[in-house]
Amino acid sequence: MPKRFTVTSALPYANGPVHIGHLAGVYIPADIYVRFLRRQGHDVLFVGGSDEHGIPVTIRAKKEGTTPQGIVDKYHELIKNTFSDLNITFDVYDRTSASHHHKNAADFFLNLYQKNIFEVEETEQYYDEEAGEFLADRYIVGECPTCGNPDAYGDQCEKCGSTLSPRELINPKSALSGNIPVLRATKNWSLPLNQYEEFLRSWILEGHQNDWKSNVLGQVKSWLDDGLKPRAMTRDLDWGVAVPLDEAAGKVLYVWFDAPIGYISATKKWAEENQKDWKPYWQDPNTQLIHFIGKDNIVFHCVIFPVMLKAHGEFILPQHVPANEFLNLENDKISTSRNHAVWAHEYVQDFPGKQDVLRYVLTANMPENKDNNFTWKDFQTKNNSELVGILGNFFNRVMVLTEKYHDGIVPEPEFFDEIQNLNAYPERIGKFLGKFEFRNALMEFMNLARFGNQFLQVQEPWKKIKTEPEKVSGIMNAALQIAAMIAQTAEPFLPVAAGKMLEMLNLEQKSWQDLEENSNQISVGHLLGKTELLFDKIEDEDIEKQLNKLQETKRKNLMTNPNATPQKPECTYEEFQKMDIRVGTILEAKKVEKADKLLELKVDTGIDVRTIVSGIAEHFSIDELPGRKCTVLVNLAPRKIRGVESHGMLLFTEQPNGKFTFVNPEDETENGCQIA
Ligand code: 2FM
Ligand code: ZN
Repeated sequence: MPKRFTVTSALPYANGPVHIGHLAGVYIPADIYVRFLRRQGHDVLFVGGSDEHGIPVTIRAKKEGTTPQGIVDKYHELIKNTFSDLNITFDVYDRTSASHHHKNAADFFLNLYQKNIFEVEETEQYYDEEAGEFLADRYIVGECPTCGNPDAYGDQCEKCGSTLSPRELINPKSALSGNIPVLRATKNWSLPLNQYEEFLRSWILEGHQNDWKSNVLGQVKSWLDDGLKPRAMTRDLDWGVAVPLDEAAGKVLYVWFDAPIGYISATKKWAEENQKDWKPYWQDPNTQLIHFIGKDNIVFHCVIFPVMLKAHGEFILPQHVPANEFLNLENDKISTSRNHAVWAHEYVQDFPGKQDVLRYVLTANMPENKDNNFTWKDFQTKNNSELVGILGNFFNRVMVLTEKYHDGIVPEPEFFDEIQNLNAYPERIGKFLGKFEFRNALMEFMNLARFGNQFLQVQEPWKKIKTEPEKVSGIMNAALQIAAMIAQTAEPFLPVAAGKMLEMLNLEQKSWQDLEENSNQISVGHLLGKTELLFDKIEDEDIEKQLNKLQETKRKNLMTNPNATPQKPECTYEEFQKMDIRVGTILEAKKVEKADKLLELKVDTGIDVRTIVSGIAEHFSIDELPGRKCTVLVNLAPRKIRGVESHGMLLFTEQPNGKFTFVNPEDETENGCQIA
């Protein structure tokens, strides 16, 4: 019986691109799952989109000197295209800055408001008087009370990892202006999560104790055991969905209130564009709502959003929340701020046509029950030994041998016991997929190819063609049945390769039920298509390039000023020794005629008083210079500049903003002292 499924995947923040951790944790499992559901004939809506509100977006905008809208426009487009390049088959990919979502989220809020669900919370929050804004936790910096790190944020210390609240910071400062913030009274609307503890306990901990993943149940239990507190659903910010109340001017909905409503907004948009009714997808109790997320999103999808849905009253609750753990990269945490990541859009550029390879490796290493690791070496091995060596090799041999011995036509069968139950493979793969065990499902799929290779290895049609030629057609028919079953079951995991395999075998894609019922998927007399390459080897140099890229990032992370100009070519000690640099004092300064940038200086170098022409007129006024200590390269060959002979050079540093600063010894030093 076909059922209805609403499958959502966490809306990525549109403040940067997505990386392999996002893909392995959320988007690839979700896509495999929906492809499988579709093959089972279910009515599936796969929802995605960009989460465009929240502080990370405004921080990024400030950093890049643009507006929050500018940032989300850029990354929404990039992320959307990357997903499409990786063949993630969303039915709708929406965005939360869209006006239809603002309206939908505001209506949802009003619905709860009118039911008196919210508690009004009066608090004192840090306020930046110069910027005229309440400060989000991330915008307050100060000393960490735990480890003394002077640059801790109002929500977290990145050095020792402790979770903080802004009031705990020692000497807090506003990250906007650098000023000391003041406490100012404000009012926000909170969702009384504490009143829903009983509901959550019985719905999740009792109702789903046997079908939800243990990592998810564990987190929910620990939240509930710690006791839930009311949580503010509005914020004093100007980027987000405006709170639809007259008394809430200047406030927006908390990003975690509006983002999951984004799933519903996207469904409404899809329904409107496709002349469908959105309601059954969110309100029919027979619909299965499934949220694919990473582990950092568990509390939002298993506690806050369900409480919102429950409080509203007209919505179904999720049936499953198959959250994954995290993926590491080369045994180190993936980090956006350190740029330690494999960015999905860069992968697509660096490995054109190899989307399936990434899907395969990330599925094989999916962090289903614990954190897992991606390494480039393993990526290469899985491609070369498994996709090329096992799957590609088997498929290619079957195609080539059928062409050679039977002119590309499926020959007569013969009884082989081991071929009778090929349908057990799709059955087992399906069972694993139904339980969100993607790694096991993929392994079972690859076992089919392994079995195919063993079958050929044992039967050796290339020998029998000489010794017992009458046996070859039966062997090749059996090998073709295996190949056909591989081609039919590959699609959820390897959609591009699956398409190619079906084309080579000249077959139509079948429903999953058909595969579970029929071990024979290709009939006698059927003409095959043309053979083409499925996968090719990945060379060492491609892997080295990727490893070097990560290495280069690590090196850059050690630089305190990545914008500094590169180092000049080496000089010898003797060359350096030639320079005679001394401390001096400027005695007089005057403008050089018809030269805006130049000043003519009289400098006491301790060994003489001399004239030096220096290009500092735009940086210092002539009045502030006399009496200033300076550092002078005294043995620079004399040069005539604009008619004035200059005997040496003053040393300055140029700051990133173009400002010049004198380079002087720390303490008062006599003129003529040498710097060496
Ligand atoms: O963690 C994140 O990247 C969030 N942007 C996920 C939001 S999921 C949903 F609620 F929209
Ligand atoms: Zn700390």
